[in-house]
Amino acid sequence: MRPDLAARAVDLRELMDEPDADLRMLEHTYRRFRVVNAVVSRPGALYRRDIRPRARAGRVRILDVGAGGGDLCRALAAFLRRDGLTADITALDPDERAMGWAAANDGGAGVHYRCAATDELVTAGETFDVVLSNHLLHHLTADQLSAVLDDTRQLASSTGFVAHHDIARSRGAYALFAAGTLPFARNLLAGSFIRVDGLLSIRRSYTAAELRAQVPQGWTVRSGFPARLQLRWEGARARP
Ligand SMILES: C[S@@+](CC[C@H](N)C(=O)[O-])C[C@H]1O[C@@H](n2cnc3c(N)ncnc32)[C@H](O)[C@@H]1O
Repeated sequence: MRPDLAARAVDLRELMDEPDADLRMLEHTYRRFRVVNAVVSRPGALYRRDIRPRARAGRVRILDVGAGGGDLCRALAAFLRRDGLTADITALDPDERAMGWAAANDGGAGVHYRCAATDELVTAGETFDVVLSNHLLHHLTADQLSAVLDDTRQLASSTGFVAHHDIARSRGAYALFAAGTLPFARNLLAGSFIRVDGLLSIRRSYTAAELRAQVPQGWTVRSGFPARLQLRWEGARARP
């Protein structure tokens, strides 16, 4: 039976967010994020459009908020290395299970993994040229969203920008994810929360119109392919 996707299912909780989630399944979920992100999050496009031009102008400081298993950071590190460019990349997540697994699986990428909340970095006065997140927004309550937007805006330097990437809720996205992951449910994705949590995520996600109605002035919402949203804020002197 297809769920009702007319409104956000904010009361649903993803299995990976449970404090007593099976650790082996959770770690296998972090491992498999790389496959999912390669298909739906397309870090190569993010790198070419937003990171490489800045990295060519000088060393960039990148912060990934809610980094989970850290694969987006490692993918960016690999693109930069391939192009002979350098950056300081920080993966941030308040869940020590995620940061523990990610640090142990850095594979020489040189990413800095930090188990902390965004407000701790704000209090410390830290700033970054690029502040990113991927698949974070739909995890948050309205109050948490407001706090994360406020914090990430403050964490971006005046020449930097913030880009929160997430799924756009729609019947099509749900049907595509359900059909696309079904053949892999008993092999590639077995023993992970990817399929179950992915479907819950889509139900928890925003549409572009909902997100626009929720965010403060200065933030812009862009729609992308496949079923993607980008919530963006640019510093007063943001460079291309
Ligand atoms: C679905 S995972 C996404 C992981 C990774 N960004 C990716 O795309 O593969 C969401 C992550 O957000 C983290 N998270 C939840 N609430 C957060 C908050 N308020 N601030 C920062 N991270 C948070 C969770 O611990 C979890 O690791």
